[in-house]
Amino acid sequence: MIHDPETLRDRAASALLAARARTHTLTTCVDEPDLTAQHSPLMSPLVWDLAHIGNQEEQWLMRAVGGLEALRPEIDSVYDAFEHPRAERPSLPLLPPAEAHSYVAEVRGRVLDVLEKTPLRGDRLVEQAFAFGMVAQHEQQHDETMLITHQLRRGPAALTAPPPPDTSGGVVEAEVLVPAGHFTMGTSSEPWALDNERPAHHRLLPAFHIDTVPVSNAAYLRFVEDGGYREPRWWAPEGWRMVCENNLKAPLFWRHEGGEWLTRRFGVTEPVAPEEPVLHVSWYEADAYARWAGRRLPSEAEWEKAARWDPRTGRSRRYPWGNDDPRPEHANLGQRHLRPAPVGSYPEGRSPLGVRQLIGDVWEWTSGDFLPYPGFQAFPYPEYSEVFFGGAYKVLRGGSFAVDPVACRGTFRNWDHPVRRQIFAGFRTARDAGPEEA
Ligand code: AVJ
Ligand code: FE
Repeated sequence: MIHDPETLRDRAASALLAARARTHTLTTCVDEPDLTAQHSPLMSPLVWDLAHIGNQEEQWLMRAVGGLEALRPEIDSVYDAFEHPRAERPSLPLLPPAEAHSYVAEVRGRVLDVLEKTPLRGDRLVEQAFAFGMVAQHEQQHDETMLITHQLRRGPAALTAPPPPDTSGGVVEAEVLVPAGHFTMGTSSEPWALDNERPAHHRLLPAFHIDTVPVSNAAYLRFVEDGGYREPRWWAPEGWRMVCENNLKAPLFWRHEGGEWLTRRFGVTEPVAPEEPVLHVSWYEADAYARWAGRRLPSEAEWEKAARWDPRTGRSRRYPWGNDDPRPEHANLGQRHLRPAPVGSYPEGRSPLGVRQLIGDVWEWTSGDFLPYPGFQAFPYPEYSEVFFGGAYKVLRGGSFAVDPVACRGTFRNWDHPVRRQIFAGFRTARDAGPEEA
């Protein structure tokens, strides 16, 4: 899709604005000690994320695109994610909250001038306003990271939102058959797609079945109550080690009390909602559940074919519902609601084959490792994707309720270690089709 420069400028400006509104909410709803505290060794202090957002924006948009002098060159190293692992970030000389807020605002002011003056052609970094889209996505990704920090934080609720509408109902089939054949995976034409989503290429897949909806808490509870966490045969060896070492019995944030399963979200304790997608499970738990259920996780290619492939044309589309940008009736995105919708919701967001909630609600673990597509080229920097390729990370697809539409599409790839449970992740299952169904 090619847009004219003025449309692109408007899109870039509104994407940056929307990201900043979200960042503002997440960093002003708690007091200063809460912003500088480390709520979990897995996470940065919120005030680190805040200035890191501004520092990335300064480096890419002010300096690389705009050619402007560095505002604060001395802080680059403090906010370099590779120089400092999350656990050591609280002991760095971080900008205090008020300074961090004024730093990001100062950067943004200059960036909006750069956006107005830069011709959006001639160089891959600015072609189609790519760098602006990349920086808006970066901020939104950290907004999801900061929401995870809020979930891990102890104490009374700081954030509230209305629950998503329950539009479930009308799901008749538990799974759909995706016929054998080629499909196009990845993209070469989506203007703001990141390097790891590129290029578009063909994949040949045998026929398979995939769940119409994500695995629910009710379904997952049957695994828990069937002794799933006590039975090594369901688990990959490293997964079983994780269960034993940490004495795991259920998803993160769950607690069994008075004969009832409770969970805590954003400071509020409530019963586990049976109809909601299961959330806060690691890849190992998803993998074990699938084996217990006589099924398996979908591969990344299977997930994408179920989400994008249109059987009428044989083409791949941007989203399960087509090529239109996400609207509220399509998917639970953008932190409008701080929880997933009941399984079977968002019928208007279903794929042509009838698969629901592929986008939004919960990130979905897939079976595979994070690897480059054939023809991959790191752009604009190897530390976005390339340094993570290999066997240490599993791919997640689709996006959670915490993901903004700008950082989410049928080709978008997320990744994390298979032991991680604090992210907003669930999963759905799949199985091979029999020879008579292919
Ligand atoms: C794509 C979510 C794995 O948070 O580590 C943020 C996104 N990259 N800053 C991450 C990212 C650089 C990344 N994930
Ligand atoms: Fe970052």
